[in-house]
Amino acid sequence: MANLGVNVDHVATVRQARGGMEPDPVTAAALAELGGADGITIHLREDRRHIQERDLRLIRQTVKTKLNLEMAATDEMVRIALEVKPELCTLVPEKRQELTTEGGLDVRYNLELMTEAIGRLQDGGISVSLFVDPDMDQIKASSKAGADCIEIHTGAFAEATEWKVQEQELIKIENAVKLAKKLGMGVNAGHGLNYTNIKKVAAIGGIEEFNIGHAIISRALFVGLERAVREMVELVKYA
Ligand code: PXP
Repeated sequence: MANLGVNVDHVATVRQARGGMEPDPVTAAALAELGGADGITIHLREDRRHIQERDLRLIRQTVKTKLNLEMAATDEMVRIALEVKPELCTLVPEKRQELTTEGGLDVRYNLELMTEAIGRLQDGGISVSLFVDPDMDQIKASSKAGADCIEIHTGAFAEATEWKVQEQELIKIENAVKLAKKLGMGVNAGHGLNYTNIKKVAAIGGIEEFNIGHAIISRALFVGLERAVREMVELVKYA
């Protein structure tokens, strides 16, 4: 049965639109846990466009499940992570101009950088996940770099408008899960998942945790956060 990590970045995005105190992602994290979230995910970006260091520190102190910190593999971020000590760090690529994380990491090309960042975080007692496309070479490189787990980028599947392409992407995800498991890594997945498309990915089996943000926070505007989380928990666990 898979777990659900709820990404509360978008609550911070609304707050930053006015530069004030509301809505507070720290409150959102607590409500997501009341709705049954198994973990809270936040992305501290280099440009601090949504989550702030204050949010990270308060969520670290108040979270009752576990904290997954998404971050770029930079010196600054590794230092912050080692101080705050999330249960999991998910390393992601980061470009300043992108609206959201656009693609998976190129672990093959950045093997040395990844291996070093992973080693430093693991030495600090933090497990490390690498956000990668469902690409065999990237998964093999993730294992070589010493990652504890991977998070499969489900964006290509989620964005596919043709049924045939969606099926092809689903097969890629299925094969990625198999290879990662064979190499002894844990498997998470996320990006672009919503109340409809989650059913097909959850049905693959073997994925330990789904990290979902935009769809849950969007639904929460209409039905409230606790209910939005509860509905997604049902889909993730019982699809
Ligand atoms: N996983 C990772 C690594 C991400 O960067 C994001 C987006 O912040 C998500 C999951 C969640 O994606 P979405 O907001 O589309 O559910």
